[in-house]
Amino acid sequence: MSPVANSVWALGLLLLSLFPSPSRQQQFSFTGFQASGHNNLSLNGASHVQPTGILRLTTEASRLIGHAFYPEPLLFANSTTGSILSFSTAFAFAIVPEYPKLGGHGLSFVVSRTKDLRGALPSQYLGLLNASDVGNLTNHLFAVEFDTVQDFEFGDINDNHVGVDINSLVSNTSAVASYYDHGEYGTRLVDVNLKSGDTIQAWVDYDGADKMLNVTISPFSTKPQTPLISFHVDLSPILENTMYVGFSASTGLLASSHYLMGWNFKMNGVAQSLDLSSLPSLPQPKKKNTTLILATSFSTFVVFVVMSAIAGYLFYKIKNADVIELWEMGCGPHRFCYSDLKRATNGFKDRELLGFGGFGKVYKGVLRGSRGEIAVKRVSHESRQGLREFVAEIASIGRLRHRNLVQLLGWCRRRGDLLLVYEYMSNGSLDKFLYAPEVTRTQTTSRPLSLSWPQRIHVLRGVASALLYLHEEWDHVVLHRDIKASNVLLDSDFNGRLGDFGLAKLYEHGANPSTTRVVGTLGYLAPELTRTGRATTGCDVFAFGALILEVVCGRRPIELNAEPEEMVLVDWVWERWAQGNWSDVVDPRLEGGFDRGEAQIAVQVGLMCSRPLAISRPTMREVVRYLEGGDLSELPELAGPPAGEYEQLGFDDFVHSYPSSSFEKANSMQLTVGPDEASAGPFEHYSSLSPVSHASTSSINQL
Ligand SMILES: *[C@@H]1O[C@H](CO)[C@@H](O)[C@H](O)[C@H]1NC(C)=O
Ligand SMILES: *[C@@H]1O[C@H](CO)[C@@H](O)[C@H](O)[C@H]1NC(C)=O
Ligand SMILES: *[C@@H]1O[C@H](CO)[C@@H](O)[C@H](O)[C@H]1NC(C)=O
Ligand SMILES: *[C@@H]1O[C@H](CO)[C@@H](O)[C@H](O)[C@H]1NC(C)=O
Ligand SMILES: *[C@@H]1O[C@H](CO)[C@@H](O)[C@H](O)[C@H]1NC(C)=O
Ligand SMILES: *[C@@H]1O[C@H](CO)[C@@H](O)[C@H](O)[C@H]1NC(C)=O
Repeated sequence: MSPVANSVWALGLLLLSLFPSPSRQQQFSFTGFQASGHNNLSLNGASHVQPTGILRLTTEASRLIGHAFYPEPLLFANSTTGSILSFSTAFAFAIVPEYPKLGGHGLSFVVSRTKDLRGALPSQYLGLLNASDVGNLTNHLFAVEFDTVQDFEFGDINDNHVGVDINSLVSNTSAVASYYDHGEYGTRLVDVNLKSGDTIQAWVDYDGADKMLNVTISPFSTKPQTPLISFHVDLSPILENTMYVGFSASTGLLASSHYLMGWNFKMNGVAQSLDLSSLPSLPQPKKKNTTLILATSFSTFVVFVVMSAIAGYLFYKIKNADVIELWEMGCGPHRFCYSDLKRATNGFKDRELLGFGGFGKVYKGVLRGSRGEIAVKRVSHESRQGLREFVAEIASIGRLRHRNLVQLLGWCRRRGDLLLVYEYMSNGSLDKFLYAPEVTRTQTTSRPLSLSWPQRIHVLRGVASALLYLHEEWDHVVLHRDIKASNVLLDSDFNGRLGDFGLAKLYEHGANPSTTRVVGTLGYLAPELTRTGRATTGCDVFAFGALILEVVCGRRPIELNAEPEEMVLVDWVWERWAQGNWSDVVDPRLEGGFDRGEAQIAVQVGLMCSRPLAISRPTMREVVRYLEGGDLSELPELAGPPAGEYEQLGFDDFVHSYPSSSFEKANSMQLTVGPDEASAGPFEHYSSLSPVSHASTSSINQL
């Protein structure tokens, strides 16, 4: 050996002795697990081994993460050649959802370079990654996911699939959970319901020489001949020499208990399949055995006394309890206890007030037990009917998941109050970065905070993708109905996140269709909306156009203090555009520090969305494409100011036609127009152009 090779060799030996050597044992077998105290697995988060020997990764509580790793790292590379070894594993799991058809979120088999996945998120991130490291090649993470929620953000195919994830939660390949059954009459694919609560066996086999990964599932002990997924992938860039193997599961707003009953693993060989009948089984739901309790007359008497005491106690308690009506049972998202929210917000103290949202006060809160910061919106509502419809809708709204939507974590109802619990957004609402709030402008001299151009365009792209999600990517069309700067919130990384979606609908429902009301904010209201009262995706596009111009120009859609010709932002921008001076409109506070190409696209898209005729506006899919593409030549030609379209609408300058007094008031209030102002029903206090005071007193509009 040459001296150089010798010293490299010596260095290698030194490094080996510095780091803990990986487990000699390259295979193991668990049929049931040892309760804590034994070092069988490294558990963290919500995971826990039950006395029956079943490992429970999460319970049915919301936003949990459970991890379980084999405590020693395993050697994944051939020590002489350095190539990745073959490995094979078989394990048995069961997923028991809180609500029969709604799982949350799933379980995965993980190969990771660390067993401490701190910083990972629950919900759609499955406890593996977080929003900032998803997709990063430095993660060195390989996972096979058993996902029970369809997340459009990650391109999930459905809410019952198996996927192969490499450094990301966007699966490289996935398949509907099923197995191939080779029967007498040929081969057929049989569906497997991952969230059935039944034990399911999964096999993950990787052939290091062929670079072939197979994933197979089945509800039985024997392995189907044909794998569900056969994927050609070279894991050598992903796997390092030594890696940890284990499992991760998470819950979100919707939750399941994720269980693991057994696990075989073998390096450089084929792991033995588990015999499902020899594994510990899940506890069956408890059966009530009342006859036993009432067996003797004596115990009957005791029970009677106890029952009366309990009844008395309950009677006292119910007067103060959260009201739970029958229709509220079985709704998806997490129902919070009023007392928990009260404690989290220090009893809804004014000190915790974040601001006044469109529909009620918003408080900051901290949930006990490090469950994090939340924002609690208190919506007052007298109408039980409207509330009931709304709560039914929470079930569906709560399942909306997108990185640019403020996540609804849950809710609570108490008397006339509806409390909605959202993620806390540390940077508050967008409007306070665009212009100083009306009121504080006269009271203080503090300059409004500002956003750089890259931050602005990032926020607009984020909100656009959230709207596209609501309009086209969810299983039914969700209209936001109240897009405006104060409903766009900024998280700690200055991602724009749309809040308050669906809430406007609560105020739109009337007892009969003819009492439908238009809810929105002047300047963002599409012209057709005020005439027909029918909200469409086009109305959201119009409001988004107003938002784009607002963010680019750093001005409100309607600015009363401005020169008359500049008062209506979109008219002013049109004018400058037609003159070829579009760059005049860009916020002077940027002091020219903006990307001209991006800004021109933003202005043009803003104008396209603001067209009076709904059919001339682009769809959100087009808007996202234009904003993301950054290619001006992709945009259609934009013809001069749309005066002709107003005439076509028979509208003749609809904005200017407001009498000036009510117009002034209207600038900072919710505009509500109803076809039948007389019979306003439960919504009478919203039925005319009455100022909704909170909207004008503050624009710190958390949610
Ligand atoms: C699990 O722990 C028990 C008790 O320490 C031990 O007997 C058993 O061999 C361990 N199993 C594995 C697979 O390491
Ligand atoms: C490593 O590779 C060498 C050469 O191909 C082979 O002889 C040896 O068995 C391999 N070792 C393992 C643990 O697979
Ligand atoms: C994301 O995860 C990585 C690695 O676990 C961690 O370093 C990082 O701080 C996390 N980021 C956030 C925003 O939590
Ligand atoms: C990936 O992560 C590394 C280290 O955390 C970081 O330096 C890098 O910027 C990240 N890359 C991307 C594309 O986010
Ligand atoms: C898997 O997906 C990731 C992220 O989508 C991508 O970077 C990677 O190249 C893909 N790998 C394979 C082998 O397809
Ligand atoms: C994967 O499946 C294919 C097709 O059934 C099979 O030929 C191959 O041997 C399997 N590889 C492993 C590692 O199980």
